[in-house]
Amino acid sequence: MYSDLVMEHFQHPRNVGELSEGPDVGVGQVGNPVCGDIMKMWIKVTDDRIEDIKFKTLGCGAAIATSSMVTEMVKGKTLTEALKISNDTVAEALGGLPPVKMHCSNLAADAVHEAIKNYQEKHK
Ligand code: FES
Repeated sequence: MYSDLVMEHFQHPRNVGELSEGPDVGVGQVGNPVCGDIMKMWIKVTDDRIEDIKFKTLGCGAAIATSSMVTEMVKGKTLTEALKISNDTVAEALGGLPPVKMHCSNLAADAVHEAIKNYQEKHK
C-alpha cells in the first residue's frame, strides 16, 4: 500500500522537534480539514536560506512521512526555491501515496510556506 520510502520516513522521521522562537525563525501551522490532523513547522533562516527546519505532526503515518520528506527537500534551499515546492512534489518524492491518503500530503508544503510567510512578515 505504501512505498518503501514512505515507510522509511514514517519509521525514522527526519528533523522532528522544534526551534526556539527568534527573529531568524519562522513558524507555520496548518490543519487538515478532512481529518483534523495538525502539522507545525519551524524554519531558521540565514542569508535567505533555510539553514535548519523542524516539525511536529499530530497525524497519520502519511502525514509524518510527508513532513519528514519536505524538511529534507527544503533544507539548504533559498526561500524562493522552497516556495516552489508543492504538496504534489512532496508526494511524488515519496514514490506516491495511495489515492485514499493523497489528502494527507496537503499539509507538508503548506506548512513550510506558512513558516516562510511568518518569517517574511517579521522582516518586512
Ligand atoms: Fe489526517 Fe492523513 S489522515 S493527514
